[in-house]
Amino acid sequence: MQRNGGGVGAGGQPWVLRRVRLTWLSFMLFFILVFFPLIAHYYLTTIDEAGGPDKRIFGPRPGGELCEAKHVQDLCRIRESVSEELLQLEAKRQELNGEIARLNLRIEACKRSIDSAKQDLLQLKNVISQTEHSYKELMAQNQPKLSLPVRLLPDKEDPGLPPPKSARSCRLRSCFDYARCPLTSGFPVYVYDTGSYLWGDYLDPLVKQAFAASVKSNIYVTDNPSIACLYLVLVGELQESPSSPPPSPSELEKQLKALPYWRSDGHNHVLVHLSRMSMTQNFLYNVSTGRAAVAQSTFFEQQYREGFDLVVSPLVHALSEPNFLEVPPQVPVKRKYLFTFQGERVESLRSSLQETPPQSFEEEMEGDPPADYDDRIIGTLKAVQDSHLDQVLVEFTCKNPRPSLPTEWALCGEREDRLEVLKASTFALVISPGDGQLVASAGCGMRLFEAMEVGAIPVVLGDHSRLPYHQLIRWSEAAIIVPKPRVTELHFLLRSLSDNDMLAMRRQGRFLWETYFSTSENVLNTILANIRTSIQVPAAPIKEEPAQEIPHKAGKLAGTDANLADNGDLDLGPVETEPPYASPRFLRNFTYTAADTYRAWNRAPGPFHLFPHTPLDPVLPSEAKFLGSGTGFRPIGGGTGGSGKEFQAALGGNVPREQFTVVMLTYEREEVLMNSLERLNGLPYLNKVVVVWNSPKPPSDDLLWPDIGLPIVVVRTEKNSLNNRFLPWDAVETEAILSIDDDAHLRHDEIMFGFRVWREARDRIVGFPGRYHAWDVNHQSWLYNSNYSCELSMVLTGAAFFHKYYAYLYSYVMPQAIRDMVDEYINCEDIAMNFLVSHITRKPPIKVTSRWTFRCPGCPQALSHDDSHFHERHKCINFFVKVYGYMPLLYTQFRVDSVLFKTRLPHDKTKCFKFI
Ligand SMILES: *[C@@H]1O[C@H](CO)[C@@H](O)[C@H](O)[C@H]1NC(C)=O
Ligand SMILES: *[C@@H]1O[C@H](CO)[C@@H](O)[C@H](O)[C@H]1NC(C)=O
Ligand SMILES: *[C@@H]1O[C@H](CO)[C@@H](O)[C@H](O)[C@H]1NC(C)=O
Repeated sequence: MQRNGGGVGAGGQPWVLRRVRLTWLSFMLFFILVFFPLIAHYYLTTIDEAGGPDKRIFGPRPGGELCEAKHVQDLCRIRESVSEELLQLEAKRQELNGEIARLNLRIEACKRSIDSAKQDLLQLKNVISQTEHSYKELMAQNQPKLSLPVRLLPDKEDPGLPPPKSARSCRLRSCFDYARCPLTSGFPVYVYDTGSYLWGDYLDPLVKQAFAASVKSNIYVTDNPSIACLYLVLVGELQESPSSPPPSPSELEKQLKALPYWRSDGHNHVLVHLSRMSMTQNFLYNVSTGRAAVAQSTFFEQQYREGFDLVVSPLVHALSEPNFLEVPPQVPVKRKYLFTFQGERVESLRSSLQETPPQSFEEEMEGDPPADYDDRIIGTLKAVQDSHLDQVLVEFTCKNPRPSLPTEWALCGEREDRLEVLKASTFALVISPGDGQLVASAGCGMRLFEAMEVGAIPVVLGDHSRLPYHQLIRWSEAAIIVPKPRVTELHFLLRSLSDNDMLAMRRQGRFLWETYFSTSENVLNTILANIRTSIQVPAAPIKEEPAQEIPHKAGKLAGTDANLADNGDLDLGPVETEPPYASPRFLRNFTYTAADTYRAWNRAPGPFHLFPHTPLDPVLPSEAKFLGSGTGFRPIGGGTGGSGKEFQAALGGNVPREQFTVVMLTYEREEVLMNSLERLNGLPYLNKVVVVWNSPKPPSDDLLWPDIGLPIVVVRTEKNSLNNRFLPWDAVETEAILSIDDDAHLRHDEIMFGFRVWREARDRIVGFPGRYHAWDVNHQSWLYNSNYSCELSMVLTGAAFFHKYYAYLYSYVMPQAIRDMVDEYINCEDIAMNFLVSHITRKPPIKVTSRWTFRCPGCPQALSHDDSHFHERHKCINFFVKVYGYMPLLYTQFRVDSVLFKTRLPHDKTKCFKFI
């Protein structure tokens, strides 16, 4: 109706006139065409009949001869002139038709420009309201922009601290100069070259080499001692059989005092002793270290300054990296032996006490020496073994015990043999030294290390033991710690644990071992991270991948894709009207080292990196956004809620507004890519499109990229790798990433819905195509499966939302072996991402409804399509399981559709989305 009326009306007055003339002309035309021939015919036939005889005389005559007759000639003339006029009229008619068409075109053009002007106006209005909103938020906040704090300046000579009564009572507050380590300093660490002090000559060459290599790769290390916060001195391990005996402790003291930045008392120094379990593991006991902290594996209680000194793990893999693939699987949880212990007690506590103990000891020992439980332990454990209730292995003598401290249980035999036993052990006992004063020893550290390395759950007998980094690592999540008097109840206790808890502990042990102990680099990183955390300095920010942009021509204005036409009447949010809005970054720098310390240390990926944002930030209570913390929130209906219309106008949810970035991996499919990009035109909340150009061949010069009103950043890659899909490009400025294949076809409402769902499950992969892992009973291994199924465990990243946090983890934290496999097969990167996220979160991904079954033209759908593709994926799955030590994927039967999807609504309400 509207359309037709508009067509005529738009012509206005002149059109009415033209139409009248046109009608008249048609009438004339009709007259000439119909009546004239009739008249002409009448005359001609009359003549014919009248002049019958003539026919015979003259024979048949051509028509022209008729014209010889006078009146016929007249008629002919008329006819000619009329047909002349007819032709002219026809020409005129055509001319007019042409003009009509031209004018119609102009009308259409005008209408379009009105529409687009209206659109522009709407857009402007929206931008204004958005800006007003943001401005109001800024005003409401009424806070001055946070500026960096006044830098604490180190005093050149005097740290300004009153010296503690004795170095033994050193704590951070009394012995550490905070002025050297401002919160924003970045924690610069100066490491003394082992060649610069004489003591360095007596160091174990392996330890020296491993330490040097770790220092080299450490990002906190600076070569400028004047700005350093911390000074590291490597003092051990000493060579086992040096050519000349090492200098006496007093000589070491002298050498330490001579260090160029010792500044009389060694404040902010850490003496690092990386133990490989020699007999000299505690030579520092007799050395006065001033205000320098000590990091080593062995401590007596009197020597250990709680919160100041560090218990570190022994150094096992000094040079070689552990091979994660040789780590035995975590499942089955129950192994051959319930628990094992192999060790030999070199000396009993009694005999060690008879030795001359250091003077300071005797004074501090209160009352009687502690009961020596070791005999009771031996008796009890042997009884368990003899009872044959469970298979256990306990040996209290061995062929060639390793040297150990008095009262410590010596390790038996070779490392390989010990590991073989531990691989068959569900639990591994770690009996702390009989001397309760020995709170940490390299021997116990080694037992702990080896148990966790092969997945035997450590059981530490002796609750006085200080386990490595015990101030930050919650050991109770990975080890059972039992006081020695409970040894008779130990068997009962171990038997009572559920498989779930045991596997969780084993997994946690694996995490701790892998993150903190496995390599010399980890050991150094952990020592530094421990000190950094205790003085609350944030970690260095994790690396971003600099995006090298390939310049490209944006020309073609994106039209409306035919496939989007059915989207036309869907309002999906502030289309093209929201100004670009990057997610805020680094808001929680100091939370990680304050409130979040324990989570950072006890959950993957550990405390070594500062992330610009994570999916784990706590959410506000709902009323907070109306009472004082409203910045950035876009509640539905301003907080009153509402159905479709209000829903589409606001982002809602429990977190502030945000946008997402599309990351599209592409390889030499320009036409397909251009179409995909064009389809993104007008997508609400889209911040930017990052096209990862995976081909060495640059895009064609004449390629005209669609202009979708947003930046399209084309990123050059170093090599064609599917891992590039998950690099944390610096060009990605939002937390949310929508990863899509260049040929994936998602409709706008599907994307919008996916985005809104992801906002509620920020730690998960939220996407469209679901897959699952299936158990192959015949081969006792895993299969990748894409068949229709009512359960899924993976969502393919060819069309999925995930947090940028996982891009960092995938690229820099996940074991390299997995990325190598992806490169080798040019496959499986999506499986790897699903493993990673499920491993970190212990949650399955989320599949969202799509209006139609997701179509992915390039994806093989069944085995028959592409056998090798599937066989590779089976292999990947089983390989990844080997790397993680268990199968991280979890099943889900959820599929999310929008709240009002199948609800009957009153007339004044609308669905959230029309189709999903
Ligand atoms: C080291 O300990 C011994 C006793 O075990 C003591 O005689 C000696 O003086 C101590 N040396 C230092 C430097 O404290
Ligand atoms: C947090 O750390 C990052 C990276 O070091 C830095 O860019 C940012 O300014 C810091 N933010 C605050 C509030 O200190
Ligand atoms: C998928 O289902 C079909 C039909 O049920 C079955 O023949 C095929 O083996 C299945 N494929 C896989 C990989 O399980």
